[in-house]
Amino acid sequence: MRYAHIIGWGKYLPQRVMTNDDLARMVDTSDGWIRERTGIRTRHIAADHETTASMSIAAARAALDRAGVSPSELDLIIVATATPDHIFPATACLVQDALGAAHAGAFDLSAACSGFVYALSMAADRIRAGNANTALVIGAETLSRIINWNDRSTCVLFGDGAGAVVLQGSDQPGGVLSTLLRADGSGSDLLIVPAGGCKLPLTLEVLTRQLHTLHMNGREVYRFASRVLDRAAREVMHKAGWTSDQVDLFVPHQANLRIIESAARALNIPMEKVFCNIEHYGNTSAASIPIALAEAAESGRLRVRDRVIIVGFGAGLTWAAAAIEWSEPQAVSRSRWVLRRMSYGLAGVRSRARRLLRRLEDRLFGSGDPPPTTLIPKNGAAQGERHSTPSVSEPSQAEAQAR
Ligand code: ACO
Repeated sequence: MRYAHIIGWGKYLPQRVMTNDDLARMVDTSDGWIRERTGIRTRHIAADHETTASMSIAAARAALDRAGVSPSELDLIIVATATPDHIFPATACLVQDALGAAHAGAFDLSAACSGFVYALSMAADRIRAGNANTALVIGAETLSRIINWNDRSTCVLFGDGAGAVVLQGSDQPGGVLSTLLRADGSGSDLLIVPAGGCKLPLTLEVLTRQLHTLHMNGREVYRFASRVLDRAAREVMHKAGWTSDQVDLFVPHQANLRIIESAARALNIPMEKVFCNIEHYGNTSAASIPIALAEAAESGRLRVRDRVIIVGFGAGLTWAAAAIEWSEPQAVSRSRWVLRRMSYGLAGVRSRARRLLRRLEDRLFGSGDPPPTTLIPKNGAAQGERHSTPSVSEPSQAEAQAR
């Protein structure tokens, strides 16, 4: 029997930090209101040159380093995101190219804040079925680009970042032991980016009415989350044959501290066994659980054979959970680390060579028209355009050290 173990983890948070006081200078809100209602104090905001792909690549490299796995060993890359760099190609393909993962299939998965748990489940199933041996699962978001910075009911909640795990097949019991995926599309209007898809393409009117930004019925989403979180956790615990007192760490989606506390109460899990970092990062949607897992492992809150429950919930509506037995860390050799670093440089050369070859082929056998990618500069912004993210505080030294 095959098992899918998590053997590496990594995270990336942009340098720029936005405090509640920064927000209070932009909209009618206060540090007190945000902390009391959500538990959030700061969130990280992507710099103009950063995108979901660039943050995914940084988190992926950290996870591959931790796992001691080189990109050429990857069979599969899934990026869970609601804020891909483009409608297509998939952000996962940009990650595949940057890593030089020449033997990997790559696709994006759209299940909003539940996306990482959905993706983990897909990858683990493929490994358990013997169709893949090593998979990279990423949750990454640049939510700051789809937020209406004039809407106080949503702009205070979200942040940017990326987290990644490497999964590998083994005959040793452990790893991802049970999963649950659920959806209820009747609540699709409760949390939605109305425009930008084929139903409502971008027009000047759409942009003026801010329909390309995130809209949320907070109270309804709160009610939905409170209903499903503990039930989903209970179901995967049951499938794994665990009781709640056997759980070592509960890692819920970081959307609201009050939701997390009420789920922990319903599950009879003391808050010491609940991982919370919402205070620092806000809601990073699909990135929140992998960032939390990486941080828990780095800070020693996750040890070998610990029993972990993760639960995500969000737009769709979707929710998902998994029961994981934490795996032995890999012994990582310095020489393999150096080789891996060199392979990233080679991946860039390989990518450029392939583009050049394609252009040459086009000159020799094709129409000779310039390829459309030349319209898009490397940082992903449209030509002449700069992303206008609001001004934010630089992290203090203490904050930077605490990360
Ligand atoms: N600052 C000050 N006042 C505010 C703010 C703000 N930032 N936002 C709203 N208010 C006001 C409202 O206008 C309202 O005023 P009123 O009573 O005069 O009408 C009052 O505060 C209370 O508003 P509520 O919406 O009832 O506040 P609530 O306690 O429900 O908290 C919140 C709002 C934090 C959004 C909460 O509903 C929540 O966390 N919901 C869940 C969100 C979530 O989990 N999303 C996850 C999925 S995300 C994804 O999938 C991408």
